[in-house]
Amino acid sequence: MTVVDHPIIRERLTHIRSTDSSTAEFRHALHDIARLMTFEVTKDLETITVEVETPLKKTEGHAFERPIVLVPILRAGVGLLNGFTEILTEASVGYIGLSRNEETHQPHSYYCKLPANITEAEVILIDPMLATGGSAADAADELKNAGATRLRFACLIAAPEGVAAFEERHPDIPVFAAALDERLDENAYIVPGLGDAGDRYFGT
Ligand code: PRP
Ligand code: URA
Repeated sequence: MTVVDHPIIRERLTHIRSTDSSTAEFRHALHDIARLMTFEVTKDLETITVEVETPLKKTEGHAFERPIVLVPILRAGVGLLNGFTEILTEASVGYIGLSRNEETHQPHSYYCKLPANITEAEVILIDPMLATGGSAADAADELKNAGATRLRFACLIAAPEGVAAFEERHPDIPVFAAALDERLDENAYIVPGLGDAGDRYFGT
């Protein structure tokens, strides 16, 4: 996995973790980190050469070789979406709805709506939390079952247990996180983490 380490990301992450931050501050910091992470997460996207005409002459330019599809895992993944689409302005968006059972910690799938071009696209799965890894791994299964072959996963905070579980089920999918935290607690929450990402982002 890759930890996207940058002073601005570290500073914003502090606002996200803090219980003193308001919903607005949490949203704003999450949005900033998503924008900043986009550069590292897409660093190896392939481009093709295109011709472009400047006011002076024709020259060589570049375009993405394949369409890009962003797939946030509902609900909390929505918090990262706008930061990515502000940079990847032409990306299509699909949604996968998963909810973790509070006792078993197993994800339950309740929604899946993906764009038709998912089979040919570069797909970026996004969710702030990689805790046990069950939600992200199930979402990746759904994407592969839909025909996606070029996948990467971006999250805000990962637990070592989640990274190991995800990489075991999907060794072909690169994982990016803004922080790798210490561990999971007895409720499968990330420590130190930020608490419940969906509740904090949606103010619920
Ligand atoms: C959170 C989070 C991830 C999942 C991570 O979602 O956004 O999707 O938990 O946990 P895991 O790695 O152990 O599967 P949650 O199920 O709480 O749903 P929500 O986003 O609707 O609040
Ligand atoms: N889901 C969250 O929102 N937070 C965690 O720490 C773990 C799962």
